[in-house]
Amino acid sequence: MVHILPSLGDRSLRSLVDLEQGLISREIYVNEDIYKQELEQVYGRAWLFIGHESLVPNPGDFFKSRMGEESVILVRDHKGVLHVFLNTCRHRGMKVCRYDDGNTRLFTCPFHGWSYDTDGKLVGVPHFKTAFHEELDKSEFGLYEVGRICNFYGSIWATWDRDAPPFEDYLGAYADGVRRCFESMDGVDNGVELFRPVQRWRLPCNWKFPAFSFDGDRMHGVTTHRSINVAAIGPQGDRNEGDRHPMRARFPSTNYEMSIRELGHGGHNAIYDLPGVAPYVDTWQTEPPEVDEYYRQAREKKAKKYEGQFLHGGGALIFPNVNIQEQRILHWHPHGVGATESWRFYQVDRNAPKVVKDAQRRYMMRYCGPAGLTESDDMENWNYASEASTGAMARRLPYPFKAGLGHDYTDDRVPGMTLNFDIAEENQRSRLARWLAFMEAGSWNDLYPLNKGK
Ligand code: FES
Ligand SMILES: [Fe+2]
Repeated sequence: MVHILPSLGDRSLRSLVDLEQGLISREIYVNEDIYKQELEQVYGRAWLFIGHESLVPNPGDFFKSRMGEESVILVRDHKGVLHVFLNTCRHRGMKVCRYDDGNTRLFTCPFHGWSYDTDGKLVGVPHFKTAFHEELDKSEFGLYEVGRICNFYGSIWATWDRDAPPFEDYLGAYADGVRRCFESMDGVDNGVELFRPVQRWRLPCNWKFPAFSFDGDRMHGVTTHRSINVAAIGPQGDRNEGDRHPMRARFPSTNYEMSIRELGHGGHNAIYDLPGVAPYVDTWQTEPPEVDEYYRQAREKKAKKYEGQFLHGGGALIFPNVNIQEQRILHWHPHGVGATESWRFYQVDRNAPKVVKDAQRRYMMRYCGPAGLTESDDMENWNYASEASTGAMARRLPYPFKAGLGHDYTDDRVPGMTLNFDIAEENQRSRLARWLAFMEAGSWNDLYPLNKGK
């Protein structure tokens, strides 16, 4: 139960999230009790992004990830099967893995020495004969494993809830767009790897500030990112006024706020006037010519694969907290009601030559992440907005999410999607609607296939 302050009137969750009026209470971003419920209701049930199979290519490889606030281990066991385990010893809870990644035959707990095989089985207990009299049933105390795991074109996802729908159904109409985010530039499925190490840092704001506004708030770009546009840090050097976006080819299309309202996923996506892919435009004028050459040839191969097909849509925020794009993955983990742990992964073609990988890595480090110019701008806003929303008076003032309210529409070219003007707050309303549905739902029966909570 959310703690209710009678002086503030009706405080049900539904009263805090008024989607008809587009008025959302700040309480859902600052209230400790609501936050605790999110960890159970949202993070305990939703499909969550874990990582990518390229992070654990060999038997025994592991990569430490997160689900909500909790540490989990993605590991490839000695038979090659992928698992995701809660990173807690079954004896007294010590973290059995304290490294970000590596390769191991066993996870041995540093506290009392219990050892677990890479498939999670408890295989070693010190003093098993003398102290436990061989009476401990080891099969009951293996590492705790997620309810379901899915390898989706190389990307790894998991949920604690065995009743969750299949992952592809969870993605709905975004399944194809997400698939394409993991194909190489020449159009080969599962053709990428992720740069290591992963960037990780903490921000003093609620996780919904970044997760729900990113790719749903184009309004901020002109003001927030003016400095980076002026600085001209794009891979094109100062061409095109130093446009910061990577490899932007010209192709007739219209951008929309696009979302699946019932599922909460959404992004800024295009509907194209032509089928296929756009011809390549030289981009990397500050890098050796091999880089443009590689990407040009890749684009030609991709054009053959998709000849005659329309590639509307693309990557998006996949509810609740990860934004999957073609060249980067933005992941925001809750870390207390007023803190977020932000992770960045960057895809690059697995078979690209080093000169291309280096160019891509340099560009991403300049553009994204904790030291990248773009995200520094965003963080400044989220941090100060959070701080200025927590006071007793400030939290009484709802945030209006009214841009484009009631002006949504559908288009037969992108079935299942709700559209709005490219600058709207439609996607944020979709995410909030899904959030409310999760917070109110008793089980997955209330959440799928229809958003009955809406
Ligand atoms: S906490 Fe792990 S062996 Fe005791
Ligand atoms: Fe931004």
